[in-house]
Amino acid sequence: MSSPVAARSRVEVALGERSYGIELGLGTLPELGAAVKQVVGPTRAMLITTPPVGRRWAGRALASLRSAGLRARRFDIPDGERSKSLAQAGRLYDALLAAGADRGTVIVALGGGVVGDLAGFVAATLLRGLPIVQVPTSLLAMVDSSVGGKTGVNVARGKNLVGAFHQPRLVWIDAATLATLPLRQRRAGLAEVVKHAAICDAQLFETLEREGEGLLGGELERLLPILERNCTIKAGVVSQDEREAGLRMLLNFGHTLGHAIESLARYRGVLHGEAVAMGMAFAARRSEALGMAKAGTAARLVALLTRLGLPSELPWHPRRAYLAALSVDKKKRDARIRFVALRGIGQAETVSLLPSEILVPEVR
Ligand SMILES: NC(=O)c1ccc[n+]([C@@H]2O[C@H](COP(=O)([O-])OP(=O)(O)OC[C@H]3O[C@@H](n4cnc5c(N)ncnc54)[C@H](O)[C@@H]3O)[C@@H](O)[C@H]2O)c1
Ligand SMILES: [Zn+2]
Repeated sequence: MSSPVAARSRVEVALGERSYGIELGLGTLPELGAAVKQVVGPTRAMLITTPPVGRRWAGRALASLRSAGLRARRFDIPDGERSKSLAQAGRLYDALLAAGADRGTVIVALGGGVVGDLAGFVAATLLRGLPIVQVPTSLLAMVDSSVGGKTGVNVARGKNLVGAFHQPRLVWIDAATLATLPLRQRRAGLAEVVKHAAICDAQLFETLEREGEGLLGGELERLLPILERNCTIKAGVVSQDEREAGLRMLLNFGHTLGHAIESLARYRGVLHGEAVAMGMAFAARRSEALGMAKAGTAARLVALLTRLGLPSELPWHPRRAYLAALSVDKKKRDARIRFVALRGIGQAETVSLLPSEILVPEVR
């Protein structure tokens, strides 16, 4: 058995002067402070978290920041997607400024994608930009949202419609924090892992097929190589296409329908990863129907999703409801969508389709 120390690794996100590292390990939260101190030279750290995470992990993070000589304070936001709002960002601006936030302040985001996206947005905009360190604690945030610099909030018209690109200075992944992440959330995070495998890493896909649910119940240490592989994939895509001009679009595999499913459910009852799982299964079937994917591709993807306890059938909604959800903006009803299709497991490409073409023939 390798020790946690031996299992530590680092992935570089190469973006010129905005480059940063993703540090992975198990039980490494006590070393966070020293690492933060090394990448940014501020005197003050403002840690943003949410009670389910903060209750278990903020104490350790704050102690570590303080022992590295930083003045550190904790700010809690209510748990859940609803906190990704301009109102919540406004409350944070006021609280952080009241606590003395200045140009020598670093923001530390400790939590899942909600905390990371909101804290990232606040860091991008407060005082025209403060450095941020991402400390993701959900599987989804570790393999996806904490890397790449996309930050944002939701508005009435839809999710993530207001935001900014703001790369973190460091991503600190302590897989030990996953011990308290509910099983359903772990499964949902695996959906993004399956996504990375399906679009560009057939070998990772085979690993997932081999390990199956064991990944969720077993030793957290077994997850480390999977986390590292996923961060490498995401970092590679982001380095080549930071602003989503082309390659980065492939990361939207399963998300066209996934977002529609979430919006039709009014963001209740279905987790993002679950919606993406259904969206990926749909996209794989559609890729076969379009003659793009090898026969059997969809069946293999669906089999893996099922083994991981993820859904693969679209929830029923009237076809016109799906059409409306796919064309977020009414004015864009006739606009083509860059739909991510599979060629096979490990190979994806985009194809421009009308919403009505995407929805043929599965959805009546
Ligand atoms: N910026 C990006 O590139 C990007 C990419 C993908 C998703 N996202 C965004 O990420 C969000 C979803 O992220 P998420 O799935 O992490 O949701 P989340 O942040 O709501 O976390 C899910 C739940 O798990 C809890 N939790 C997190 N870590 C925990 C831990 N270690 N122990 C106990 N509980 C824990 C949270 O408090 C929450 O209740 C969405 O808003 C989505 O838009 C952003
Ligand atoms: Zn996603």
